[in-house]
Amino acid sequence: MTILTNAEVFVDGELRKLDIALEEDKIRALGRDLEGDEHIDCSGKLILPGVIDVHVHARDLKQSHKEDWESLGRAASAGGVTTVFAMPNTDPPLETVERVRDYRRRAQAATINTKIYGAITEANYKDLDKLALHVDAFKLYLGETTGHLIVSDKKLHREIFKSVTHTEKILTVHAQRGGDPTDVTRHETDDIRYVLDLAAAYETKLHIAHVTTQRAVEAILEAKKSKLDVSFETCPHYLYFTAKDRESRGAWLKMNPPLATEEDREFLWWALAEGLIDIVATDHAPHTIEEKSVGYEKAPAGVPGVEFTLPLLFDAVSADKLSLKRLVEVCCTHPARRFGLPKGEIVVGHDADLVVIDPEREKTITREAVQSKCGWSPYEGLTLRGWPVLVLVRGIRRNPPCAAPGDGRRS
Ligand code: NCD
Ligand code: ZN
Ligand code: ZN
Repeated sequence: MTILTNAEVFVDGELRKLDIALEEDKIRALGRDLEGDEHIDCSGKLILPGVIDVHVHARDLKQSHKEDWESLGRAASAGGVTTVFAMPNTDPPLETVERVRDYRRRAQAATINTKIYGAITEANYKDLDKLALHVDAFKLYLGETTGHLIVSDKKLHREIFKSVTHTEKILTVHAQRGGDPTDVTRHETDDIRYVLDLAAAYETKLHIAHVTTQRAVEAILEAKKSKLDVSFETCPHYLYFTAKDRESRGAWLKMNPPLATEEDREFLWWALAEGLIDIVATDHAPHTIEEKSVGYEKAPAGVPGVEFTLPLLFDAVSADKLSLKRLVEVCCTHPARRFGLPKGEIVVGHDADLVVIDPEREKTITREAVQSKCGWSPYEGLTLRGWPVLVLVRGIRRNPPCAAPGDGRRS
């Protein structure tokens, strides 16, 4: 048994001085002075459940110049992320059993837990039961975005919601029809209301991807008052940037849905602190520096984020903007519960997916340090306090590319 000792461990909503005993891939015991064959000294560190990121684009296949499973695994561990849900808008897309099985095999190159989304398209919607045996959740695109998987026929939407309900899987929806990508008024709330109504009619388990505005969040909270089985996520870029930043930074801050207003950004922080946001997911959407350098109109939409979201939010905890309890809820506990994983909390019997954080370590995000193959980050130049120094994935040590516990405090 391996014992993580001398750390402050996040258990039952608070930090406690406890040892954690790991055996094989599970957490076996929590307590004081636990005995084992090997002790890892985590003095001065905090231990949280590993982050579960329910929205990443791992790319690979014909887009492995943007990212592949190996580089995604490295970027994720650097950011304390131990489980990712990979989106199906790959090239070619994950819309058949064969493609999903092949993608799952390729995902073994990542040193983290990997879950795979199946795409719902006009070609496969009649046969979801078969695909359901091979995917962890389904994704439907109501709008045009990277990958051209849009389904726009309303009659089909009804069929799709009905058949997904039958599979008992979660349906995650990109609920933003096309439109001017610089238009902050856009269709987000209308499209979200539209899918909320469909989920109510067909009793579908619905998850709404990348929600950006106050109006949209309020529409979802209103719908939650009735018996709807719905959850939603927002993403770090909507917490850190607004349409104004995009005006100065152009394609580097081009993503779907586009950045919203300062009022929306402030509302999201408030809602996060109040516990009104279910999940923070990164929508890690890597495109290379060359691809992003061709001007706003031509550049692909999407920004990377998997390796900096935990440090960004932990820095907000250090600055008293957010409680550690909320951070763990939105990054770990809620995603695990929603998607049915035995993870997301430090309890005996759960998978040993853990992130050890040095709360004092300060580091500036630089392009050189980026692990994602895309080679850049929208957060370059930010100095953050509190970084992962050790990540365990089902008990196996995956060191982030900074020093392990005991190696000194600053880099
Ligand atoms: C995503 C991508 O590049 O795959 N881009 C984005 O702007 N968010 C697709 C998506 O999530 O819509
Ligand atoms: Zn999307
Ligand atoms: Zn996405």
